[in-house]
Amino acid sequence: MLDAVEGPQDVIAELQAFRESMRTLVSQVAAQMALRNKMNDQKVEALCAKIETAVRDYSNMLMRQNAVRTSHEANASDHDALIALRREWGVASTRSSLLRVELNQWSLMRDMIQLQVASRKKRVPLYEKQQSPLAKAQSSASDHVFDWVHAILNQHKQSGDAYESGCFPDIALPNSEFHKHLHAAYRVLLAMEKTDRMRFLDVGCGGGLKVLSARRYFKESDGLDYQQTYVDAARAILEKADAEDATAFQADALTFDGYDGYEVIYFYRPIRDHEKIIEMEKRIVDSAQPGALLIAPYCGFAQRYAELGCGRVDGAVYMAKTSQNKADQWRRKAEQTGVAVVQAEEERMSTIWTPLLKASRHSGYDIARHVPLI
Ligand SMILES: C[S@@+](CC[C@H](N)C(=O)[O-])C[C@H]1O[C@@H](n2cnc3c(N)ncnc32)[C@H](O)[C@@H]1O
Repeated sequence: MLDAVEGPQDVIAELQAFRESMRTLVSQVAAQMALRNKMNDQKVEALCAKIETAVRDYSNMLMRQNAVRTSHEANASDHDALIALRREWGVASTRSSLLRVELNQWSLMRDMIQLQVASRKKRVPLYEKQQSPLAKAQSSASDHVFDWVHAILNQHKQSGDAYESGCFPDIALPNSEFHKHLHAAYRVLLAMEKTDRMRFLDVGCGGGLKVLSARRYFKESDGLDYQQTYVDAARAILEKADAEDATAFQADALTFDGYDGYEVIYFYRPIRDHEKIIEMEKRIVDSAQPGALLIAPYCGFAQRYAELGCGRVDGAVYMAKTSQNKADQWRRKAEQTGVAVVQAEEERMSTIWTPLLKASRHSGYDIARHVPLI
């Protein structure tokens, strides 16, 4: 910190030096967060104490800078000189206010860091063992409403051709069930550190609501369906949602050859016909990347996954071309990630906290935002 602040240029230099020293401290904490359960908690505590002190010092620094500015203004010879002085101080004042706003977020950052320190030796299961009766009743009502929305958005009947080909019509998996599986798969991807490539495919997407929902978790979401009128309905929703990261297209799950382009493949028993569903499962597993996550919430797959060469991670989440041992290892790793769903959020303006937020979100932790209701 400069000993004597004499004018706006000194203030700008002082702010720059402060920002640099904060940046160094924040990157050191971020590096610790990236170590996940191997972080050094004492080091983190010491770094947090330094940040805490710096944030407190900043208030005193602002008071000193304000005092200099006020005395400059008081000594202005006339009105024009006063206006010129204010203009001169403008950049310094804006920068110090911006930094103040950034530093005000420290308490949120500290809570997020403390949660990671406290959780480093704990595990949170991918699926909750038991839902409270209250939560059950609420999600069941919400699912019901979601079914209404689903019916409103896709009013097309199943085509004769699709029926003849052994397809099921567009019957939706309950929304809350879907999110449980998405969340579990998302945490496995965090454990695998695959946050840069997170592509999701709904095989038999019907009216596309699941593709839309998956955008909350993954970078790209696609849906394919046998029936063109369903695809049209899905496209209409995605277009209305301005979903540039999502597409719906017509394809037959039995001949589609792009399964290897996805990290997460979801199929909710699209096909009625027993032989054909097995043929589809084989095709998906054979062409998926090793380690791709398969979300298959129906009994038949639960009986066949092992002979198809998959490991079951947990619940309805399976891993293609993976032994059960390996799948169990990934489950345990995934249970050590945080539970925040952060990946699909829009890029925000970079601040001093960006490296810390990036490292934390990479492990499933985020700041707790309190969004005002009105
Ligand atoms: C049970 S619904 C699932 C809808 C949605 N995925 C969900 O989970 O809510 C099955 C969907 O798969 C589609 N489908 C059936 N057979 C298919 C095939 N061979 N290729 C592509 N889509 C198919 C149907 O048209 C229908 O929209």
